Amino acid sequence: MREHAVSRRRVLGIGATLGLMAATGLSTSAALARRPSFTGAELPSAVPLPPPFEVPLPIPAVLKPTSTSGGVDRYEITQREAVAHILPGVRTPLWTYEGTFPGPTIESRRGRPITVTHRNELPVPTVVHLHGGRTPADSDGYPTDLVLPGRWPDSAEMVRGAHDMHAMSGMQGMPGMQDPRAVVTRLARDYTFPMDQRPTLLWYHDHRMDFTAPALWRGLAGLHIVRDDAEDELGLPAGTRELPLMITDRSFAADGSLHYPALDPTLREQPGVQEPYLAGLLGDVILVNGAPWPVHEVDAASYRLRILNASNARHYELEAVTDDAERLDLVQIGADQGLLAAPVTHGRLPIAPAERYDAIIDFSGVPVGARVRIVNRLGTGPTRDVMAFRVARRGTDDSRIPATLSTDLPTWQRSDAANVRDIAFRAGQVHGGHGWLIGGLPFDPARSDVTVGLGDVEVWRLIADVHHPVHLHLVGFRVLSRSGRPPLPHDAGLKDTIPLRPGEAVEIITRFDGYRGRYLFHCHNAEHEDMGMMANLEII
Ligand code: C2O
Ligand code: CU
Ligand code: CU
Repeated sequence: MREHAVSRRRVLGIGATLGLMAATGLSTSAALARRPSFTGAELPSAVPLPPPFEVPLPIPAVLKPTSTSGGVDRYEITQREAVAHILPGVRTPLWTYEGTFPGPTIESRRGRPITVTHRNELPVPTVVHLHGGRTPADSDGYPTDLVLPGRWPDSAEMVRGAHDMHAMSGMQGMPGMQDPRAVVTRLARDYTFPMDQRPTLLWYHDHRMDFTAPALWRGLAGLHIVRDDAEDELGLPAGTRELPLMITDRSFAADGSLHYPALDPTLREQPGVQEPYLAGLLGDVILVNGAPWPVHEVDAASYRLRILNASNARHYELEAVTDDAERLDLVQIGADQGLLAAPVTHGRLPIAPAERYDAIIDFSGVPVGARVRIVNRLGTGPTRDVMAFRVARRGTDDSRIPATLSTDLPTWQRSDAANVRDIAFRAGQVHGGHGWLIGGLPFDPARSDVTVGLGDVEVWRLIADVHHPVHLHLVGFRVLSRSGRPPLPHDAGLKDTIPLRPGEAVEIITRFDGYRGRYLFHCHNAEHEDMGMMANLEII
């Protein structure tokens, strides 16, 4: 991950990459050969699963600010355990934001700062990250910047534990870096978000060092929508015709819990997941906004779907089909970081963990009473279904999709780049066990991996062995190429998460502007992330 001049760049062919995959001896490689469309292993549920399309689609409540004075909206969120009835007749204990999964949605306006006070009543420390947020480093949720559990008597002990853990992993202070042993700890803390960014769908989720995957799995995820006047004026479907859809897969244990096969079930000390889930944990129940294969009644009109894949490891390829096997277009109007320049029409929409798509679906040609299913072309058995819409009534519709959606997209060119870097995402060894590495190294909070100048434009060439959805904190980027070929249709616009396919080298371009400080980039397959596939990004 050192800086390379373009001419010195090592050219790594697909053959070499696949050779390396085979050399790792991973079970993933074999699984991959059989099913090129996913990375991970499915954990079957131990309770009976309900039939699809019976439970109504829940819409997460929008959180009310506790104060709006002084030009800042203030929110309070308590992280606590709660019991939900996700499957009929089954009690499922969860870790939640404010008692629900998904957590409450925060709606904010571009340029109007907000403060969110998070109080931790869970049995473990937590970290809150606003994914896709242009956030100063001290509120970005660095993985050791902990919010300690407030109501547990052993918090002090846990602080010591965290320090020991870091001492054990052999970290040393580095010049220009904060001493990692000075783990930042608080019982509750304020996160401040300037919201000085393009309107889009963001999400907030846990980001604790080594334990993000199980915390996400147990429910620590919520939506955050940023809006502005320009977008409001476009005339897109709005109100009840704008639907946030957080898609996750989960598995239910015999006792109804969302069992996570962690090496340490208390999620306090030893990180990691059991075999055969090292490449990613896949569930066999698809939840949308926390409900299994839900159904939603719609008018015969256009709807705006704000889709997030909040699954740990599962990729989907979404398609809308009527019961008469007719396909409805998904007209993409936005990517992770907001509106596209112009709409892009898709028959199928692939979505990797942490990606978002803003898409319009038009039900006006569907007869009243008919059903439109959203299916997952990468799924098998129960994971082939996602949710359904039932067209309940005719409806007037004055919404539109303008041919020009936005004109403020960055125009960085390859020739603007101060640096071109090659960054490899591959399996490897960590402490003699299986791990996932960036540039050959597992994550270490004490090491600076990439240092960039504030305001610099760079081209990064991201190289993968298996599927890796790569995410950069703070910045949005554009996709320049995929293994020397043009980007795919759904790569359009400004993104913050880019799925690398097996053996691929994907070039992205971005400008590191906004704030100086220590940020992250990582694989958003949550199991990979916890097992080392994360790196520090220093903006100086
Ligand atoms: Cu979705 Cu580093 O985060
Ligand atoms: Cu992020
Ligand atoms: Cu990965």
